[in-house]
Amino acid sequence: MKIHRMEEIWLIFGVAIIVISMAITGYQAFAFDMEPPSGTEHIDPQKVDETAPFDNPGVFKTGDNTYEVVMTLQVFSFTPNEIELPKGAEVTFIMTSKDVVHGFQVAGTNLNAMIVPGYVQRITQTFDEPGEYLVLCNEYCGAGHQAMATTITVK
Ligand code: CUA
Repeated sequence: MKIHRMEEIWLIFGVAIIVISMAITGYQAFAFDMEPPSGTEHIDPQKVDETAPFDNPGVFKTGDNTYEVVMTLQVFSFTPNEIELPKGAEVTFIMTSKDVVHGFQVAGTNLNAMIVPGYVQRITQTFDEPGEYLVLCNEYCGAGHQAMATTITVK
């Protein structure tokens, strides 16, 4: 049986499309692997207290209108516990857990992250509205989970 020349071209074309799309999806999976998303920065959870920047948790001014909040989460508290930030500032939270999985959820914002021991979580947020923002742990972490909360005051 003779394949018509045109059919042959289209057959090759079809196969090529499949191969190319497989290559693209494969490449994307590979590229994703090579460049891990934020939140895959590692830390030894046993040595959080001795590992920078967590050896010195707190609120730090890093620029004209930028701040960093270096925070550790542990049963059943957030350190630092009192956070005060100016309205409109760009704030990067750098967080890790010293023991079990905790949550970092700020009521009235989109901030909601899982804080896993062994990993560093970074999230940037701007608080445009002044007020007191309730910070809650939203991952069950033990007997004191319900009490694990703090506030962020924006002025
Ligand atoms: Cu920490 Cu729930």
